[in-house]
Order: sequence, then C-alpha cells, then structure tokens
Amino acid sequence: MTVKFYKQDQQVPLEMHKVRIVQKLWLPPVEERVRLINEAGNNTFLLQNKDVFMDMLTDSGVNAMSDLQQSAMLRADDAYAGSETCNRLKEALLDVFGTPYFLPAHQGRACENILAEAYVKPGMICPMNFHFTTAKAHITRVGGEVVELVTEKGLEPVNDMPFKGNFDIDRLKKLVAERKQDIAFIRIETGTNLIGGQPISMSNMLEVLNLCRREGIRSVIDASLLQDNLYFIKTREPGYRDVPIKDIMHQLAAAADIIYFSSRKLGFSRGGAIITMHENIYRELMEYVPLYEGFLTYGGMEVRSMEAMSQGLYETLDMEIISQGPIFIEALVRELVDYGVPMIEPAGGLGAHINATAFLEGRIPSCQYPAGALASALYIAGGIRGMERGSISEQREPDGTERYAALELLRLAVPRRVFTLSQIKYCADRVKWLYDNRELIGGLSWVEEPKVLRFFFGRLAPIGNWQNDLVRKFREDFGDSL
Ligand SMILES: Cc1ncc(COP(=O)(O)O)c(C=O)c1O
Repeated sequence: MTVKFYKQDQQVPLEMHKVRIVQKLWLPPVEERVRLINEAGNNTFLLQNKDVFMDMLTDSGVNAMSDLQQSAMLRADDAYAGSETCNRLKEALLDVFGTPYFLPAHQGRACENILAEAYVKPGMICPMNFHFTTAKAHITRVGGEVVELVTEKGLEPVNDMPFKGNFDIDRLKKLVAERKQDIAFIRIETGTNLIGGQPISMSNMLEVLNLCRREGIRSVIDASLLQDNLYFIKTREPGYRDVPIKDIMHQLAAAADIIYFSSRKLGFSRGGAIITMHENIYRELMEYVPLYEGFLTYGGMEVRSMEAMSQGLYETLDMEIISQGPIFIEALVRELVDYGVPMIEPAGGLGAHINATAFLEGRIPSCQYPAGALASALYIAGGIRGMERGSISEQREPDGTERYAALELLRLAVPRRVFTLSQIKYCADRVKWLYDNRELIGGLSWVEEPKVLRFFFGRLAPIGNWQNDLVRKFREDFGDSL
C-alpha cells in the first residue's frame, strides 16, 4: 500500500525513512567544472568525488545503509575460521533464498571470475538475456563467447513493455537445439543493467530455468539487481501482487542451479556471494574461493560488510524499502519525458537512462561517443556525475574493430535513499537546460584507450571547442549562479 497525496495531480515519491547522517556537498563553478572534467579525461570515472555535486555514477556500494545495518556491523565476529558473522550470513541466505550452500567473494565480478574459471572453456558459449561488462570480460578472457538473446523489443528505447529484460524464448530454443553441447551455462541477468535497468518477468525466468532443467544445461542467475526486479514483479506482473517477496526468491532459487550477486547492490553492503541448493555445485566451485578470494568464511569480504549484508538481505523482503529506488527513478524519468527529453521508457530500476543518440538528434556518430559526450556535458552543466553506458563501455572485437553499442545511454543512477526530491529536481532542471542547448554539444575522441574495460580508465578529449561554448551559454542563462 502506498501513501496517497490529497491535492496532487501526480503521485509524489515519498521517503519512507528519515535522514540522520549527512555529508556536505560542494558545487564547483562551471569554469572549474570544465577544467576538472578535462583533467579526468572526460571520463566521469576519473572525477574526484569531492568535485561532484550529485554522484549518479552508480548504485554500487553507495546506497544509504539503514540504522539496523550500521548497528549489525558493530557485532561483527572477526575470526578467520568459524566466525559467527559467517554463520549469521549463511542463516540469512537460507532464510531469504532457501539456499543451504554459500560461497563468499569480495564482489560480484569475483563470482563471475569463479564461474568462468570453473565452467567456461575455449569455444564455449554463454547465452544470456544481455551481457554485463564484467561478466562478459571474464567469459571472454577464458575463451568463451557471450550470446545475447534479449527480445528485440527490449532494445527499443521507448515502448510499453513492462519486462524489457525478457529472453526471446524461441531464439533460445533454437540455439539450444543447434549448440547445446557448447553451452557452459545460461546466465539470466535480473534488472538488466546495460539496457536501462530493465526487469525480467518471473514467468520468463521460470521458462528459461525449466528449459535448462529439461535439457540438462547449467543455469545461473545474476541477482545483483534483483531488488528492483522484485519490485517490478510485484507491481507489473499479473498474479504476483500478493505473493510474498520471500516466496518469489525461494521459487527462483529452487529452479536455478546457481545464483550469484554483488552485495554492493543486493543487500546494500559490500562483497558478493554464490549460492546454490546443490552440494555438488558447491563442491565444484569451493576450491576457487581460497585460491582467489580468501578462506570460505569470508572470501575477501570484511566481516562488518557481511553483517550489513545479512541485515540488508532481510530488508530486501520489505516492499517499503525496495520501492524507494524505482519510485524516485520513475519521478525523474516522468519529469524529463514530460519536457520532451528522450529517455528509456518505461522507467526501470538502478537509474534514469537518457537516450543519448536521440538527445543529440543523431548528430554525433557512434565513433565520437555520444553517450560519453553527454556525460561530460552534464558534469559541466550541473556538477552531476552520470555514467556512459554506450560504445565506450563496449570492448573492441578481437581483430581491433569497434563494437558499437546497441543503445547509447547516459545513466543517471539513483543510489537508494541518498538524494532528496529537491536534488532530483535539480538534476532534472540541468538536464532540461542541456536539452535546450543540445546543438552546442560535440563529440569525443580517444587520448588513451586501455585494451580491457576501457571505460574505467580511458581518457578522451573534446573534438573542437564545444565545452567552452557550453560555459558561455551557461553564464548567459544563469548569471553568476553556480
Ligand atoms: C548486473 C551486474 N552484475 C555484476 C556486477 C558486478 O558486481 P561488482 O561491481 O560488485 O563487481 C554488477 C555491477 O555493477 C552488475 O550490475
């Protein structure tokens, strides 16, 4: 049930929590922002947090923790072996997911490393609804290949599909018929990150998982963004409104071979986990944990994070808690769409996603990285740090040619319970200003391009003098305002 406002045309997102710890922010003047973004190679990953007014880079490890998480951290039992903290986490996982077997890892990509090492051999394929950067990097590093099977409609920037992350089941069946023996595992990504935090329906997941069972193919769920996905299952999927969240999680865990997640996202903590109902899978993967992560009781995680994770997992069962991200994102998307800004619709989880190609009216070709250019422009316009989720986030083909992204997106992540509504409105205001001045924005070109995960450390420069034109217009419109 939600709280309704008395005299409001549209529902206003309402915080179901109060703020008791705050962090002071600083907004550098616009001239300074141009200098800082260039110092950072026009890569928002390389900006210093102290120079960022609204950090909308990611929701990873930056969601606000609850009072109960903070207090749980105080009782962490810091023993190398047999720690009570580990026992409590195992208990939480058993309760929330119903899975008796748990392998700890220091974060989500560490789980991906273990799965790729254990199961992917050269020439094998990993079908999935859509890739995630680190999952793909680990699979390809050991000689495997990712095959994406999201429905065609999932890649349309705007439509009314409630579950754009769904698999195209016909294509999956065809692939299984043709190449079953080459499949290392089928990976289901909840809250499909790179297509705009778009959810996958429960019925689609169960169809894929049942097919895996029938065909004897290993199934893996990436549950990093499960929290938002659960909210969408409850609110958008017929028949689930009254099903308790825990029942949904148990159903998924029972149907899948393996679930892994980044606890920087699921559980609002740090760390990661691989969980399963099956002892044989646990034993297959176990040896990799002490090799790469740490002993089986902590796997590279700090014990206080493990306590926060246990509590955070319980909080995932509370609709009032898990709704906070999606309703703020929806409010931001709605305000921008009403102004005419091309957004990914319907709004998903994780953040609001601007369709950079449409925003820039196709003027900037993929080889000049429209989403990266827009990320740089938005930092200049408002000290807002988004994340490029377009061609810069792709990796080149083995022969060195560019692989251009299906969608050029600027992601404005909304870390849960971090921003107030007025800050969200400020963000919308600066995006609107940028949209009205979109003809001033130009492209970017590489200065330094790393071979692997180039979006993390790559450096780019503006093509031409467009950033100074933007500053001039900012001063014209906003006077001496920050
Ligand atoms: C869907 C998904 N899978 C895996 C990961 C990797 O997790 P981590 O950043 O903890 O390594 C992420 C992180 O953003 C993610 O969004």
